[in-house]
Amino acid sequence: MTTAFDPDADLLRQADGLFAGERDPWANAANAAALLFERLPDLNWAGFYFLRGGELVVGPFQGRVACVRIAPGAGACGTAAARRATLVVPDVHAFPGHIACDPASNSEIVVPIEADGRLVGVLDLDSPSFSRFGGQDAALLEEFARRLAAACDWRLAGIDGF
Ligand code: SME
Repeated sequence: MTTAFDPDADLLRQADGLFAGERDPWANAANAAALLFERLPDLNWAGFYFLRGGELVVGPFQGRVACVRIAPGAGACGTAAARRATLVVPDVHAFPGHIACDPASNSEIVVPIEADGRLVGVLDLDSPSFSRFGGQDAALLEEFARRLAAACDWRLAGIDGF
């Protein structure tokens, strides 16, 4: 009997393999962005904003150049950070305060990254398709964020969090 290939489980296994034995947040986030961008279809941006000095500052990513600093509460990223909850935006043009980085983006998902009870940043994915992200993506990316959070020593990167 063959077991059906589970792409989400496979992606998480690959992430575990990349993070194994490495505690540096920049190294792990860089490979995480590359892995997500390569493995998940229909994306035009995949990357991180990390909390530094009370602001979200862009971290490793794949895609077009992005805005550098986002205040907690601003845009999709800042809203997810302030709420400490995953935010799915089916149409970024209908989201009040959305910060447009790549005009090709039409939908977005932002997932908080928490380590030891502190918010250290967010994972942000953009798609050129409307309504690209749903509940299955949220569950996968939340698990991905948990594994990344546990794999890193956040003090090594000057990421303070709140
Ligand atoms: N759209 C985000 C900004 C980051 S870029 O999408 C890479 C926001 O509204 O916070």
